Amino acid sequence: MRRLILLLLVLLVTACGATGTESSTVRAVQSRPEINLPAPDEIGSRSLEEVIGARRSIREYADRPLDPTALSQLLWATQGETSASGKRAAPSAGALYPLEVYVVDRTGVYHYVPEGHRLKRMVEGDLRSELSAAALDQVAVAEAAAVFVITAVEARTAAKYGDRAGRYMTLEAGHAAQNLLLQAVALDLGAVPVGAFDDADVQRVLSLPADHEPLYLIPVGHPQREDG
Ligand SMILES: Cc1cc2nc3c(=O)[nH]c(=O)nc-3n(C[C@H](O)[C@H](O)[C@H](O)COP(=O)(O)O)c2cc1C
Repeated sequence: MRRLILLLLVLLVTACGATGTESSTVRAVQSRPEINLPAPDEIGSRSLEEVIGARRSIREYADRPLDPTALSQLLWATQGETSASGKRAAPSAGALYPLEVYVVDRTGVYHYVPEGHRLKRMVEGDLRSELSAAALDQVAVAEAAAVFVITAVEARTAAKYGDRAGRYMTLEAGHAAQNLLLQAVALDLGAVPVGAFDDADVQRVLSLPADHEPLYLIPVGHPQREDG
């Protein structure tokens, strides 16, 4: 009997180690501590036209993290609340807001909460290399200071729009992504929208909820040099 219990324990420990997110350096955060982001700058200093004209996909970055002000600004541009009624920076069909945004950096995986402009820490540890492996080993994903992951919960939009939901959430991800890309330019940062990845692998690596479907990865960092 003792032998059987021991064997079961060994099997359990081995199974936990095989998940890829429970190693000694990467672990799920049970308490999900919250981080209040600095208030975003809602005025800025560069014109919209200048920023649109300067945007290029940048895939090589210096080895330097984003400061909290930049992180805050990028999240605000992507999905931040911009009205007292809770409407957001990017348009949403029926104001149903199916998008959920995650940030992956060298310290962990964070979930953005637009209400109150906060982050919740979901995973502790650096998953950028594993995320890159889920995206055809794209170097930009592994070397970005932060990778913004735009996901969508289709059921939120489908409740009102039925079969149009898939189309609507993809369009909404595009709106949010463009806001993020332009905000990156305005902050002298580089970014690239990445659509080439394995959906199931991204979900598994980041331990995303089953109904948070990844639509876009957007690596962001301090540019090393401009791509052509
Ligand atoms: C839907 C979509 C998916 C993309 N996926 C990738 C990608 O997986 N990897 C990548 O390096 N660039 C990706 N890009 C960026 C394009 O390669 C880039 O926008 C294009 O070369 C034009 O260059 P520009 O963004 O500098 O204007 C994607 C762009 C879009 C719109």
